[in-house]
Amino acid sequence: MSSTVRNFSIIAHIDAGKSTLADRFLELTHTVAPNQMKNQLLDSNPIERERGITIKLAPVTMSYSSTGKNYTLNLIDTPGHVDFNYEVERALQACEGAILLIDATKGVQAQTVANLRLAQKQNLTVIPAINKVDTNLADVDACIKQIKVLLPQSAPPLLISAKTGKNTSQLLQAVIDQVPPPLSSSQEPPQALIFNSIYHPHLGVIAFIRVFVGQINTGDQLQFLSNSKKFTPTEIGIFTPDRQSQKTLSSGSVGYLVTGLKDIRAVNVGDTVTLPQNSTSIVPLPGFRQIKPHLYQDIFPTDGSEYLDLLVSLEKLQLNDASLDITSINSPVLGQGVKVGFLGLLHAEVITERLEREFNLSVIAVAPSVEYQIKLTSSQTTFIHSATDLPNPTHIKQILEPYVDLQVITPELYLGPTIQLCQESRGQLQDMTYLDQLVKLEYKMPLVEAITNLHDTLKSVSSGFASLDYQFRDWQPVDLVKLTVLLNYEEFPPLSTLCTRSQSEYRARALAKKLKDIIPRQQFEIPIQVAIGGKIITRETVKAFRKDVTAKLYGGDSTRRTKLLQKQKKGKKRLKQFGRIQLPQEAFLATFK
Ligand code: GTP
Repeated sequence: MSSTVRNFSIIAHIDAGKSTLADRFLELTHTVAPNQMKNQLLDSNPIERERGITIKLAPVTMSYSSTGKNYTLNLIDTPGHVDFNYEVERALQACEGAILLIDATKGVQAQTVANLRLAQKQNLTVIPAINKVDTNLADVDACIKQIKVLLPQSAPPLLISAKTGKNTSQLLQAVIDQVPPPLSSSQEPPQALIFNSIYHPHLGVIAFIRVFVGQINTGDQLQFLSNSKKFTPTEIGIFTPDRQSQKTLSSGSVGYLVTGLKDIRAVNVGDTVTLPQNSTSIVPLPGFRQIKPHLYQDIFPTDGSEYLDLLVSLEKLQLNDASLDITSINSPVLGQGVKVGFLGLLHAEVITERLEREFNLSVIAVAPSVEYQIKLTSSQTTFIHSATDLPNPTHIKQILEPYVDLQVITPELYLGPTIQLCQESRGQLQDMTYLDQLVKLEYKMPLVEAITNLHDTLKSVSSGFASLDYQFRDWQPVDLVKLTVLLNYEEFPPLSTLCTRSQSEYRARALAKKLKDIIPRQQFEIPIQVAIGGKIITRETVKAFRKDVTAKLYGGDSTRRTKLLQKQKKGKKRLKQFGRIQLPQEAFLATFK
């Protein structure tokens, strides 16, 4: 049976067309009836659809007849963003092959390379394909040359259009011909990899699995190796793409277990599932690690009385997202709130957006920060993400910050400004390779630099052509200082921030200027000062001003007047009052970008 199974994935840079290609495969294999087909079917979350990004992996089992044989094709669509790198890695582990999709209008991009490396590390068969050949902007020849450098042994790439369907059936045939079938060993004790999990409001946690060895039968009691948790699935089956229950999942197959468990944190991506009686004799499948947030953000309700609503909403989001780390906090200025750990900036943005849209909350989200590791003179180690938690400098032996391995791909034309930008972002060049007219640069860089301005500035210095990707590397020492913001001569801790000593003067001045632009004029003057280690470095002033939006409306219509005043009031909803000063949400993010 497993000789007719193919487990494969589509890897690419963001927006290369993975989900659109998956749609074509669903049509070609008649997995979804034409009247049920909607674009990017496997992107299930509304924000995913709106932003055109994939966050949650959705596997699908397709049946396909070719040259007189019936094949089972398991496609695992992967998230296309750097924040979800670990999920991509685990999804690839569940496959024997991957389609490497390149956007013909963009050429090879940073994530193409990073994902290709992940696939090669797992020894997957890689099938290159160039997508979007239907557009005038496509530069197919350049892409072919770039692929030749990346994959010198590979057959020429297929030229496809996921949009029009051109050559997509040939690509599916290439998967059948080139991707090896999974190894079959049904007699041994079962071993299955969890490569994703979701929370279903009625069924509890559903684990997405790939069976590597043996078979899992309905009614089997199972156990996770990482935490020894035992459970008996209430249902096992495959995705077509809806759940379809099965009696057995045998080695090589991709499917799901309805675990019946209520806590998604018990069901870890990368964990191995087996029978309790084999749990001590089985070696866990490789690659498992607990995912740790890379970025922390303190979130407060704009209206203090909504704190419990905020907490409950985050707990609801956490049901479906084990990587979301939440802890209650109390700030003397902003009141009760929640410290939230995220995988990265996109993850943070999506969650805050969901809080506002799905839960109708108005929140003040303080600038996100990476975590710093502080080695104390008492030989203890503590982790902080907020300037207000920085211990007394006399107690600090050393501060370490997270570093990443960063890949940048830029057209040769923009090499100079790209290198300059990476150097200014404290990057240390490790390697440089030419891919036809493109240059691939490898840097070692602090995570904080990679996630703040780098992406946007890189796009602007390269007219949008350069791309980047990064992976956590290690911790390195850093000389940090605290920038303290004073509003109206009083310290305002939520705006304090940490930065390197060498950048501190420049950052202090930039921060004061930015706050001056963001803080609206009020009925009195507001001095903004920024201090480093108690010494005031810079001052800006928000001039006093009373804005009467109705001033321009001579006499006139009272309904228009009321409407304008109401509009102004609504605009103020996101302003929060601190003593005499009102601050908008953006002021709290000023320290970040
Ligand atoms: P992520 O999930 O964010 O990684 O994106 P993705 O790789 O799944 O890309 P998606 O399928 O969402 O496509 C991105 C955009 O490219 C969409 O606007 C698609 O309509 C468009 N697109 C995809 N394939 C083609 C194609 O073959 N030709 C053209 N012209 N446009 C395409």
